[in-house]
Amino acid sequence: MVGEKVNYSTTVMGWVRTFRNNQFIALNDGSTNNNLQVMAELGKFSDDVLKRLTTGACIKATGQIIPSLGKGQKVELKADTIEILGDSDAEKFPLQPKKHSLEFLREKAHLRFRTNTFGSVFRVRHALAFAVHKFFNDKGFVYLHTPIITASDAEGAGETFRVTTLPVDGTAPKNEDGSINFKEDFFGHSTNLTVSGQLEGELAAMAFSDIYTFGPTFRAENSNTTRHLAEFWMIEPEMAFYDLEDNANLAEEFIRYVIKYAIDNNKEDIEFLAQRLAEEEKALPQDKRSEMGLVEKLEFVINNDFERLTYTEAISILRESNHNKKKKFQYLIEGDGWGIDLQSEHERYLVEKHFKKPVILTNYPAAIKAFYMRQDDGCAEGRQTVAAMDILAPGIGEIVGGSQREERLDKLEQRMKEMNIPADELWWYLDTRRFGACPHAGFGLGFERLVQFVTGMGNIRDVIPFPRYPKSAEF
Ligand code: 4AD
Ligand code: MG
Repeated sequence: MVGEKVNYSTTVMGWVRTFRNNQFIALNDGSTNNNLQVMAELGKFSDDVLKRLTTGACIKATGQIIPSLGKGQKVELKADTIEILGDSDAEKFPLQPKKHSLEFLREKAHLRFRTNTFGSVFRVRHALAFAVHKFFNDKGFVYLHTPIITASDAEGAGETFRVTTLPVDGTAPKNEDGSINFKEDFFGHSTNLTVSGQLEGELAAMAFSDIYTFGPTFRAENSNTTRHLAEFWMIEPEMAFYDLEDNANLAEEFIRYVIKYAIDNNKEDIEFLAQRLAEEEKALPQDKRSEMGLVEKLEFVINNDFERLTYTEAISILRESNHNKKKKFQYLIEGDGWGIDLQSEHERYLVEKHFKKPVILTNYPAAIKAFYMRQDDGCAEGRQTVAAMDILAPGIGEIVGGSQREERLDKLEQRMKEMNIPADELWWYLDTRRFGACPHAGFGLGFERLVQFVTGMGNIRDVIPFPRYPKSAEF
């Protein structure tokens, strides 16, 4: 909140973290975890002011910045005046000047910004968001705002939240067959919150060449895990004239860039979080602790190429692994194994045990991927693959999902039919394949998973200010 310069007078405002010896206020304004020591000289302030200097109170202090005699800080403010802007009843303020569990703080999400851990997490989150825009802006990508309310399910996975203004008490207008008549609904159609901006992103890429989205997406998947949210932010670039390899190259460059940006601009916060993680891991048995510290891990990612291999190669590594042979997977790879959807334990094995670095997996079976992915040519019977790519990160699992898109109208229509995707409702999407289609590709990066990776936070609910997950939409 102040630099290292001394001997000038200034005014500071912030929240009291602690007040000790009736003299020393540790004041924090959220710009850093380093509190400013404000010294209230003995005898200078009334008892009324002193007793209101409680943890959580908001104050304004004016005085001289002087060299500090105490340990732990170079400068301090010797206060001439102290004004209490907002009292905080010490008996009732839930955050005591001691360590609280992350679970406890999640229930106090309205106040947890005022702790060191969440201060650091959300400053790093900010830096990463800024870096996302800088990366794409510097490359000439157009930032596209895709709609939040849509009439389609871009992933075709049926995990949408409905949006309606019709009554829910059973009096909604009905069709003759008893189903709800959405023609009477606000949009004259059934609508939902978007699961992805990709389809609209593709439309814009067919005009601007390179675009990206960065916005909230919503999925009603009933996943109570440390990696899933019902509302999360996604970055989705979409590039005309890119093939799968160009796509993977961009994703890799992008991830490296934003991590480096955070390290360069938020070193103090990342070092604090690294220390926090190391402390937390001390409670774990040796074999459960990370091999690298957080800073070391991030530097490793910046400085080393990601491993690239096909789904088919990955399945054979998993199938032949001792882990599989000793039946240590919960989901064993049985028989040939080709065609199964990878479970998170498989992804983690590849990334954390086998390669020990981020991995880009490509060319998945068509049957386990979305309808819009480009069908690979020359596949063997029953082994149709698509030009998909997932990026898997240590400790996180899937951080990016993307693909080259099917630009051939006939192939796309045939695939949509096979997967029961309503072509008539996506007429506008199919139009881009009718008018000036071109090879193109894109990907989606889950922003919270990236923030988790960079901050080392184990639970995704701790890297978004107000998490939404099953049975929870507080704040
Ligand atoms: O793999 P997904 O479902 O891909 C898409 O949505 C594509 N339309 C992206 C594209 O090609 N433009 O999701 C992309 C990423 C995942 O890799 C993951 O990081 C994140 O979004 N993600 C979630 N993050 C938090 N909570 C959830 N429930 C998530 N679901 C996906
Ligand atoms: Mg995916």
